[in-house]
Amino acid sequence: MKSILRGLRYGRLIRRVYTRRFAKYGSHPAGIFWSNEHRQLSRFKILLDQILFVQPKGTVSVADVGCGYGAMLYFIRENRAYDRLVYSGYDINPTLIKACKNDARLPSKRFHVGDRPLTAIDFSVMSGTYNMAVTSDVKHWEEYFLGCLRSCWRYSRKGMVFNLLCAEQSHISDGGLYYANVHRIRAYCKANFGITRVVREPRLPSDVAFMITRV
Ligand SMILES: C[S@@+](CC[C@H](N)C(=O)[O-])C[C@H]1O[C@@H](n2cnc3c(N)ncnc32)[C@H](O)[C@@H]1O
Repeated sequence: MKSILRGLRYGRLIRRVYTRRFAKYGSHPAGIFWSNEHRQLSRFKILLDQILFVQPKGTVSVADVGCGYGAMLYFIRENRAYDRLVYSGYDINPTLIKACKNDARLPSKRFHVGDRPLTAIDFSVMSGTYNMAVTSDVKHWEEYFLGCLRSCWRYSRKGMVFNLLCAEQSHISDGGLYYANVHRIRAYCKANFGITRVVREPRLPSDVAFMITRV
């Protein structure tokens, strides 16, 4: 019961933090706490390339959970390599989903408020979704976001790929950023979901991607 109430409170706080930030910067990487566009897009590439690697042929449906203002869909459309992906976007924040729906260049029907896919898709993908913690209690934050992963997993027919900031010891920084211990998260995903590969990119040394596939 306590963890349910905590999850609801975190949801409210997450919405408030991102709504304020978005009001200040709008549909721009800074509007959702990314330091620059290059790093935002590099993360998309790492995650989406993993999906294409494990599913080398045919169309693949992806749910972008924590889609922000829809930047991943722009990225997919601008890169022919991702033609095979059928996109849907979800975000816990109605303000951001409204921004996606009101963006004439984006297909409004593809975006929904939520913290998990509404229907079964091939892969859930989350970029930066769980980076901004709204508590200083790392144990509670991990309990919360692992619960979110479990919800997404239930709707992911083939797998799930997400990134986290990482550090030797899991902690929440003074600025509220969550840093994960890679071994712990990998062990959790392996025990609760499926085969879990850790993907590192030397140009993003604090970032780690986790690619989980069903057997
Ligand atoms: C750092 S932004 C990244 C946005 C987008 N993935 C990108 O890279 O452009 C994190 C986004 O995740 C959303 N978010 C945070 N927690 C979430 C959750 N549990 N479920 C769904 N969305 C969430 C926030 O509202 C925010 O839009």
